Amino acid sequence: MYVSRGYWPSFPSRGIRNPMSRKQLIEMTRRHMAHSKAGSVDQAPDVFRVPAAHYCDPQRGQLERTQIWRRLPLMLGFSAELGEKNTYRAMEVAGFPVLLTRDGSGEIRAFVNMCSHRGSQIVAEGVGQARRFVCPYHGWTYNVEGSLVGILDSAEFGELDRSCLGLTPLPASERAGMIFVVLRPQESFDFEAYFQGYDEILEHLGLGDCHVVGRQSVDGPNWKIAYDGYLDFYHLPILHRESFGSEIGNKAVYDNWGPHQRVNMPFPGMEKLEEKPEADWPDAVLLAGIWTIFPHISIATFDADGPLYMVSQLFPGEAVDESITLQTFLSPQAPDAKQQAKIQQQMEFLHHVVQDEDYATGIKIGRALATGTKKNVLFGRNEGGGQRFHSWVDALVETDDDGLPELFARQVGPTVR
Ligand code: FES
Repeated sequence: MYVSRGYWPSFPSRGIRNPMSRKQLIEMTRRHMAHSKAGSVDQAPDVFRVPAAHYCDPQRGQLERTQIWRRLPLMLGFSAELGEKNTYRAMEVAGFPVLLTRDGSGEIRAFVNMCSHRGSQIVAEGVGQARRFVCPYHGWTYNVEGSLVGILDSAEFGELDRSCLGLTPLPASERAGMIFVVLRPQESFDFEAYFQGYDEILEHLGLGDCHVVGRQSVDGPNWKIAYDGYLDFYHLPILHRESFGSEIGNKAVYDNWGPHQRVNMPFPGMEKLEEKPEADWPDAVLLAGIWTIFPHISIATFDADGPLYMVSQLFPGEAVDESITLQTFLSPQAPDAKQQAKIQQQMEFLHHVVQDEDYATGIKIGRALATGTKKNVLFGRNEGGGQRFHSWVDALVETDDDGLPELFARQVGPTVR
């Protein structure tokens, strides 16, 4: 995983957004400081084994697609991209065509990007403004709320109940400046149970007020190898010694809300913060570290003459040993030319780190595991975040739809403290 060379960028406090969740941030920071003082880290009770086949067996990959990627919310867009009414974003997510809209009343909606006539993709991939969408095949028209509002030569086509032929809606929810969608049509999805209050903490990052200032993508290994890296500080000074790792340690502390985890580093000297009143503790410290959203998001903060968020969206590829990561960069202010140049420099650096160090290593790990010559890989007691991640993946693969509410109500995986 990658962290900023200036790990605590000196961005200004955004003020208290939610006193309750800020209190949680203070409590977490106190816990991390205690580790810093004691020179300790979070530990799981035991070393943990993950079957090597879980990373390279195509059948397992298929199960994960059904049980995880098609059942859980995925973060598919930013509020900043759909800031205005009557805007949209169309994309393909692991082969699934999706259309996000902000309708005329400002509500976020999500649909399968597929015409009710004969299944054509209606909106080409991209972001834009529109009140209506015209199917490129035979010209049927839908509005931004997803209703079918026009059928070419309708009298000749024949009688239809248009009210049943709108775009197929998908459960969607806008939280903390991000748009989450479940890629399975259903009446509703219990987003509250899924986030467990984590979204209120993420609000403090202020992504909803940011500008998208850059994008790039990186081809990667099996999605779980990539996700392991999001949660792993153990490797930082070793794998990344040439790029940034020589400046930082390898200790990690983990906080979790169900399957979602924050990874932070208990810095030596962190306890100096105690000399200040809590009200003056800067957001940069309270929000430090990597914020992951299961199953595919990592949010990291860097410095580019101001805070620069890198939000990584990880998606499985067509084959079990492939993934793609979209990196979107967001800044609280619209950058001037000087800052944009700095952002570009930081983006190039991060692309290099992820592509040439993290993912190059991950791709080779995938190839080695596919030889079948090792039964398991290991996660140490100090790698509790990875242990929890794999425990959730296993639990979701094994749990049917009826069992999901109970699963999200309990603690899954080892206690890591
Ligand atoms: Fe869309 Fe025919 S497939 S109008």
